[in-house]
Amino acid sequence: MAATTLAALALAGTCLLLTYVVLSLVAGCRRLQHIPGPAWAGRTPLWLVRRQLGGRISRDLAALSKEYGRIYRIAPNWVIVSDPAEVRRVWAARGPWHRGGWYGMFKFNQPVDTIMSLTDNAAHGALRAKLGPGYSGRDVDNLHAVVDRRIADLVALIERKYLSARGGPLRPMDLAQKAQFLTLDIISDLAIGQCFECLAHDADTYGQIAFVTGSVPLMVAMAVMPRSFGLLQHPAVQALLPRDKMAGVMRMMALAQAKAAERFGPSKKVARDMLGSFVAHGVSPASAWLETFGQIGAGSDTTATAIRMTLFLLLAGSPASYAALQREIDESVRDGRVSSPITDDEARQLPYLQAVIKEGLRVWPPVAGLMPKVCDTEQVVCGKRIPAGTNVCWDAISVLHDKDVFGDDAHCFRPERWLDDDDDDDDDDDADRRRAMEQVQMLCFGTSSRWECLGKTIALIELNKVFVELLRRFDFSLVDPLNPFTTYDASLSIQSDLWVRVQART
Ligand code: HEM
Repeated sequence: MAATTLAALALAGTCLLLTYVVLSLVAGCRRLQHIPGPAWAGRTPLWLVRRQLGGRISRDLAALSKEYGRIYRIAPNWVIVSDPAEVRRVWAARGPWHRGGWYGMFKFNQPVDTIMSLTDNAAHGALRAKLGPGYSGRDVDNLHAVVDRRIADLVALIERKYLSARGGPLRPMDLAQKAQFLTLDIISDLAIGQCFECLAHDADTYGQIAFVTGSVPLMVAMAVMPRSFGLLQHPAVQALLPRDKMAGVMRMMALAQAKAAERFGPSKKVARDMLGSFVAHGVSPASAWLETFGQIGAGSDTTATAIRMTLFLLLAGSPASYAALQREIDESVRDGRVSSPITDDEARQLPYLQAVIKEGLRVWPPVAGLMPKVCDTEQVVCGKRIPAGTNVCWDAISVLHDKDVFGDDAHCFRPERWLDDDDDDDDDDDADRRRAMEQVQMLCFGTSSRWECLGKTIALIELNKVFVELLRRFDFSLVDPLNPFTTYDASLSIQSDLWVRVQART
């Protein structure tokens, strides 16, 4: 073929491609043009990528909800919703919605899906049925003992290294880090039967914290354009991955693989622990190790954020609540209503403790990611037409700080809102109001959806125990109240430098 013909063909091809790209962009921009939102958000996903990389996305999106209302556009194919009732409806267990491609980040670049990356409702439900008994604790003998043992390790570490004598020199402790050492030790012990011993060594022994800090911000930004995950498979990208920073996590993966492999084959180990339960309910060898590995990620940052932020809110936001909680603990210890260590059942009987836990999770939700749900047919949300295939996200902060549900001081940490009895109302009204608050507050665990947190029981056992065991022994105060901690909001909170002074109680 003549060179001129080839050139003409190439030119025509390029023109066609450009026309296609421009037309798709225009069509993409028009899909949601009936929904308000920042102008650039309607034109390109890069607006959302930039927000995601900014490190304060959930607070930024909550601020924009005040400007644009209950639903607004955050990318050409994405909207965000801050109406609690509508979020509950979209997430409803029997609804027509499924997860969006955003969840692909939880596939961890592996050939098999995990419970968190599955977008097909039927496949997700089938795997969930196999994992549920292990997560619920029904098949697990050592759940409470593991939590008790690891909290005792934290107490021992504090007594060994971080107690500041009254009037003596300061021995600062980074509560952000120690909370995560605790949750990593608990979850590794539960998931693979081998504790990471972060507390014993006072170190991030498997580099999990360093890995999350280094990789999660990029992963959540890529998740806005899920096709970009395909790039991770490319040899050129693989060559660029920082192997040295990943060494710890690779070790962790190898450990999860080895521990799972022990549970299959002719001389398989049988045990009544989480892995044993997964295998007994038919989880395949390829999934068993991956679920175990995923569990360590899902179960450590989240609960660590709940522990550190609740303690922080008590210390900085409401010293009166701190005192009230300590009083409740002291009185129940004195009256013999609390053992040492406290049991989960005993903790559930402490009303102020329960109110503090609910309020901590509500004010600073540990999982505030976009968590988009998609429907294959056109829907109406917040009165707006939502074309099929649109990613519908929740604005976690606005939902959990909704004034219609939680009152005018919804943004404040006030455990009493869970205990208030309004003299003007009858008891039924109080109960209804609390039930309405609870339904919304529990969205922090995805409750009432088909994707409800599988680790909720474990997380609540940890929270029920840890505050009592710490506050019955120690007094905490902030070292630098003007710069209390650093946080990077990337779906979950990456936090550090929450320096506290710990003193033994007399
Ligand atoms: C305070 C701590 C925690 C919070 C706030 C939290 C929050 C959440 C939320 C909101 C979801 C739903 C995601 C969605 O809608 O797609 C979820 C799912 C999940 N969480 Fe948690 N989580 C916590 C602790 C844990 C722990 C300790 C574990 C493991 C032991 C865990 C394991 C999981 C798993 C496996 C899923 C996926 C469930 C499914 O897809 O069916 N979480 N979590």
